[in-house]
Amino acid sequence: MAKIHQFDAVIVGAGGAGLMAALHASSGANVAVVSKLYPTRSHTGAAQGGIAAALSNMEEDSWEYHMYDTVKGGDYLTDQDSAEILAQDAIDAIVELEHMGLPFDRTPDGRIEQRRFGGHTANYGESLVMRSCKAADRTGHVILQTLYQQCIKNKVNFFDEFFMCDLIMNDGKCAGVVAIEIATGETHIFHAKAVLIASGGYGKIFKVTSNAVSLTGDPVAAVYRRGLPLQDLEFFQFHPTGMYKLGILLSEAARGEGCVLINDNGERFMENYAPSVKDLAPRDMVSRSIYLEVRAGRGINGKDYVYMDFRPETINRFKAGPKGRTVTQEHIEHVLPEIIDFVRVYAGIDPMKEPVPIQPTAHYAMGGIPTNNDTEVLDHDLNVVPGLYAAGECACVSVHGANRLGTNSLVDLVVFGRRGGKQLVEFCKTADFVPLPENPEGEVVAELNRIRAVEGGTERAATLKMELQEIMSANVGVFRTEELMQEALEKVADLKERYKTVGIDDDGKIFNTDLLEHYELGCLLDIAEATARSAMRRQESRGAHSREDFPERNDDDWMRHTVISRADGASTATPTPTESGVKWNDRPVNLKRFVPKPRVY
Ligand code: FUM
Repeated sequence: MAKIHQFDAVIVGAGGAGLMAALHASSGANVAVVSKLYPTRSHTGAAQGGIAAALSNMEEDSWEYHMYDTVKGGDYLTDQDSAEILAQDAIDAIVELEHMGLPFDRTPDGRIEQRRFGGHTANYGESLVMRSCKAADRTGHVILQTLYQQCIKNKVNFFDEFFMCDLIMNDGKCAGVVAIEIATGETHIFHAKAVLIASGGYGKIFKVTSNAVSLTGDPVAAVYRRGLPLQDLEFFQFHPTGMYKLGILLSEAARGEGCVLINDNGERFMENYAPSVKDLAPRDMVSRSIYLEVRAGRGINGKDYVYMDFRPETINRFKAGPKGRTVTQEHIEHVLPEIIDFVRVYAGIDPMKEPVPIQPTAHYAMGGIPTNNDTEVLDHDLNVVPGLYAAGECACVSVHGANRLGTNSLVDLVVFGRRGGKQLVEFCKTADFVPLPENPEGEVVAELNRIRAVEGGTERAATLKMELQEIMSANVGVFRTEELMQEALEKVADLKERYKTVGIDDDGKIFNTDLLEHYELGCLLDIAEATARSAMRRQESRGAHSREDFPERNDDDWMRHTVISRADGASTATPTPTESGVKWNDRPVNLKRFVPKPRVY
């Protein structure tokens, strides 16, 4: 028997969006946060370089410039009404965080210090601007700690290390979620008037990724399996500077502080691809440029990586410091302590003495669960799903369009997390609990029992996961073609078949990560398939979606968001059968203010 809990609002995920939503919702509702991880281990903690807001603390800036950069950075697929909210509300959200006690770095006169980041400019693209508010290179970490403290103070209820497996729907309305308590293996039902999903990304569909091992998108898959749509999945961001082979993030803040990308000839090659902003071009452009250098044989020693150079003598030789200023080793070590340490520990290299091998790393999903600006989830026909909300990386508002700018993720979390929390309060004031359907946990329990019962074949979930990550990275990565994606889809279909025969070794209940990792693989397979299908469908190149068979952006045919749902609309907690197929809808792009133009930097 499952344990039943009742709360006004249940939030799934305890990263920046979930905690901000919980904090605001707690002002007028009884709130629970259900999180797969202990909250301060959430992936927001890995966001390094900063959070954007046009505070004008270092130089003149305005929220209109921030909005413009977000739209242009997103290759004009960004919904401009959402970008306007993001850029305007960012300022107030930063002040709110500051008043909670968040330890931002300070200027000598006590204001929040800011730094440059890719694609953030003043005066509509004229020159780079210092817009990223920061706490060294641990900005996400301090946001997480601050918000968690505030949530505790405000009596938010936490269910830590609870794994959400299913969404409970009744007659088109959301009634709660089903979760497994990892410590005991017990099934729990969270019956709620409203559910807000804030579970982050699913970068684990790729091999080299900055995403933590937990980022398998289980709640996103649960939404999809319940017949609800996902939007713009074809846009997955590869951050240019992952540590070679490991994928560990080396913050864009490094380039903001002046570090440069260097090819095998010792050239600062971004001068050729983005002459005005160079290494601080948007991420999609920099990642593509790295691949093009490698293809042209200019990877280091002919291999598949280039260097990021942290050494002050290199930075100063190229006059790459902010505003051409001379930088010192002391300064670089002071502003980038965390990533310098990562390089020393994980690569065994001293970045002050040698350049660091880097390669693009799968980093961020621009797509996700479609929502409106109030975080209300939309169904396939773009109508609001009563009682269901989403915010943060798992959601697609769409405020990042086809390519997110660095530091706009943390803003998204706090701005839309806050809007979500306020919406929950309003909704819960008048809404009733939707009755639970009969046996709401039935399908999850059946699926977990099925997995337990598979007679030990030779297949292992870890092997299938590795094969999935390899094909997704190779065939649905930075550059794509129909042929490559078709091959990936066939491979995913094969993996789904093999998935049914994978057994587990641990038949216990307590901390059965063997079982849960198996379940996660099913979620990854579903999301990977929907991603590859969405990428196949969009026959153009835009932002992070770069098709060699359709190299141009095509605004006439593709200025629209892609909405994918299961064709059979079936409700099941098990991985979707490949042959069930999918159905499509398109969502118009809000082009409120800025007319699409070629993206030149
Ligand atoms: O490069 C970084 O520090 C990452 C930031 C982000 O993804 O916004």
